[in-house]
Amino acid sequence: RANHPTLMSQDLLDKISSFQANAQKSIEESSSLDGLQELKVQFLGKKGALTEILKTLGSLSNEERKEVGKQANVAKQALVQIFESQETVLKKKAVAEKVSQEKIDISLNGVDPLIGHHHPVMQVFDQTKEIFRKLGFDISEGPEIETDYYNFGALNIPENHPARDMQDTFYINDHVLRTHTSPVQIRVMENQKPPIAMVAPGVVYRCDSDQTHTPMFHQVEGLLVDKHIHFGHLKGIVEEYLKGIFERDLEFRFRSSFFPFTEPSAEVDITCVFCDGDGCRVCSQTGWLEIMGCGMVDPRVFGCVDIDSNTYSGFAFGAGIERITMLKYGINDLRLFFENDIRFLRQF
Ligand code: PHE
Repeated sequence: RANHPTLMSQDLLDKISSFQANAQKSIEESSSLDGLQELKVQFLGKKGALTEILKTLGSLSNEERKEVGKQANVAKQALVQIFESQETVLKKKAVAEKVSQEKIDISLNGVDPLIGHHHPVMQVFDQTKEIFRKLGFDISEGPEIETDYYNFGALNIPENHPARDMQDTFYINDHVLRTHTSPVQIRVMENQKPPIAMVAPGVVYRCDSDQTHTPMFHQVEGLLVDKHIHFGHLKGIVEEYLKGIFERDLEFRFRSSFFPFTEPSAEVDITCVFCDGDGCRVCSQTGWLEIMGCGMVDPRVFGCVDIDSNTYSGFAFGAGIERITMLKYGINDLRLFFENDIRFLRQF
């Protein structure tokens, strides 16, 4: 009997082999990992088809049960292997699909980041530094919040001078927002003995606000101290600077003036860049434009920083950068500098 399976066991063996064939076909045809998982439950799970078949084993003889059980196990192992290999295939396929979707098209145009533009005032600052660097000057900086002493006292601006008037100066408790870059002269001379050649570009503040004045603006200070320095040196350096900035041959006029910290003092005029000296609205028909203040360092200032004015002499100058920039580029409205409209800035 053992060698001749009963109808019952033959029936089960057939069932198993056709189950195996069908299952194998379904597995190999499944196209998604989720679908494959469902098939696994359906075929091999606790309530799966194979379990159902094995439940009927109880009615067989021992020999037959062994035979059919073995066959069922073989089928199960075969299906497990097919599941695994199909799973590998589908996983590879999923990765390949993902990669193909994420592929970067390097021929596409990039998105231009929105970038700003170097402000014309800063461009003139940079040009100023470059011109003076070539002339052998150092660049110095000082604090924007100053003491009365550095902003006024050491510069020989007396207690009752109009420049100290509340109208011009921003006060912060017992400090001031520097009203000019001249305090940097004092700080440099306190820390360095002659020869000194420095320029100090920076921000200054005054309580002024109208069409041609803003409460914050930029200046560049210049200072040169050595033995035998005279007004001719001042003229030479100032002319070299202005020709460099305006990039053209200009005519100059040194008009005598007054500053408490220089003696003698002068204001520098250049030929009007708008009418070439013929006279126009900008230069009030004079043909000249005022561009900076300058002079020989006052001996009283040297006294404050312990430099012997019998041995040393020097010159200083101070220029407003917005004004130079407006004249250089023919900009007629100061407010344009502070609006930071990128369409305006990009022109320079
Ligand atoms: N500090 C002066 C001003 O702001 C300019 C100046 C600087 C004049 C140096 C002479 C020497 O008006």
